[in-house]
Amino acid sequence: MKLLSILLAAVLPIIPYPQEVTLNKGFFNAKGASFTCEENISQEEYNKITLLAHELSAHTERSSSIAKTIMLKESAQKGAVKGFIFYKDSSIPAEGYRITVSPKSAQIVTSDYKGLLNALSTIRQMLPPEIYSSTGKGEGRWAIPCCEINDYPRFAWRGMHLDCSRHFWSVEEVKKYLDIMSMYKLNRFHWHLTDDQGWRIEIKKYPLLTEIGGFRSGTAIGKNWQNAKSDGIRYGGFYTQEQVRDIISYAAELGIEVVPEIDLPGHMLAAIASYPELSCTSEKQEVWTQWGISEHVLCAGKETTFTFLEGVLGELAELFPYEYIHIGGDECPKTEWEKCPLCQAKIAELGLTDKNGFKKEQYLQTYVTARVQKFLASKGKKIIGWDEIMEGTLEEGATIMSWRGTKGGIEAAQKGFKAIMTPYTYCYFDYRQSNKKDEPGVGNVLGYDAVYKFNPVEGLNETQAANILGVQANLWTEFIRTNEHLEFMLLPRLQALSEVQWCNPENKNLGRFKTSLKEYHLKALDFLGYNYRPLD
Ligand code: ACM
Ligand code: ZN
Repeated sequence: MKLLSILLAAVLPIIPYPQEVTLNKGFFNAKGASFTCEENISQEEYNKITLLAHELSAHTERSSSIAKTIMLKESAQKGAVKGFIFYKDSSIPAEGYRITVSPKSAQIVTSDYKGLLNALSTIRQMLPPEIYSSTGKGEGRWAIPCCEINDYPRFAWRGMHLDCSRHFWSVEEVKKYLDIMSMYKLNRFHWHLTDDQGWRIEIKKYPLLTEIGGFRSGTAIGKNWQNAKSDGIRYGGFYTQEQVRDIISYAAELGIEVVPEIDLPGHMLAAIASYPELSCTSEKQEVWTQWGISEHVLCAGKETTFTFLEGVLGELAELFPYEYIHIGGDECPKTEWEKCPLCQAKIAELGLTDKNGFKKEQYLQTYVTARVQKFLASKGKKIIGWDEIMEGTLEEGATIMSWRGTKGGIEAAQKGFKAIMTPYTYCYFDYRQSNKKDEPGVGNVLGYDAVYKFNPVEGLNETQAANILGVQANLWTEFIRTNEHLEFMLLPRLQALSEVQWCNPENKNLGRFKTSLKEYHLKALDFLGYNYRPLD
């Protein structure tokens, strides 16, 4: 415990590390401290402050009541109020906060709800990790070092993706995933809901998508991308629209916007299994029991395909309140389009030809993307797509998610498109975390320290860098079946990612990060009941 106290005083173990920290002499005793907030605080903010008060009272036997008062800012600045003090100041940047700790008080100043959540995350990390334990008093020293912190995010988009198609994650598991994202100040949940191996969201207009597309007859055995034997065990599940609304509101309370992905026109075998007429051949298909990329894709030559897409995306636009819908667009084989009379007729009708190094079928995908983009714009939504959607032509207003390295994101930013960096080289959390023989995962070695080193704006000038909305990591789940394994792949790489997303480059320090992880955060994860990959 002594060591932790010394460490707390020397460097605050906060992850992601705040932009500006000045440590002063002395401590504020959180044990028994009162809570005061502004009279006109919103109910949701009041609830979040109450939560901290309850956590503290559980460990320190203080009362968890909160006083409300008018003119709090004025009296707090005069030093007339003791304890934890929460008030608003519109000069604080979005999602940011200022924390001023003196021996008498800890003042928390914010301008918006997300800023308050971020401030509360920081405050918890200034207390002993026992704050995360729901049982036992713990040994912690309930004192916060005197300091001033001014903090705000480097990037607006701080995302984490979850593949719920290859393996299905329950509402409770998704919520636990959101909880840990919020603790590290992430604010976008990219929900991969559809793929060749399962359709996971209820669509009222097309009930077979979940009745048939939500289940597969088995799952590929072993770590094989192709030609694997199926285990023959029926597997599946889906989220009802009611559950989707529940997850959206749960995430909102944690400061997280949910971005759903309907991957199109490829990665659509589960939909084609449900409605065979969606493909070029209209042949009956099964939800895939293999991994990889299916050649059966949506037929772009049939008008009914667009009726279907508008039906699905229309319901999505109603369900999800935020500006972005992810339309996938990656890995769409054109083998069926090349042979399909209807696709070829569409190509002729549109006058598409091979040009600029792209085949005419690629421009047919461009046509699909543009139509979907226009439809969603009519519903007030913008599209995000994987970097393949830039091949051919791309209409203004689309946002690129750069996964095949950073090249796509750089090109997008140079052309004036917004981009989110999520290169497999730094951001694919299905990759293994060491080169040990029994290390779970695929691909190249990607330990948390490698994730940490990612510079998302390398190679861009200032104007271009302003087009990088942010950074995200992706967690594909072909070879991840259990929640325990999922968390092992997520943590502690999520913590490393959070510093890439939040910290200005001068505040990143792998040594400090590692020490905080070891001395504080892994203990916090233990208390919170998360599995993680131990440090080597
Ligand atoms: C992807 O990994 N296919 C986006
Ligand atoms: Zn076709």
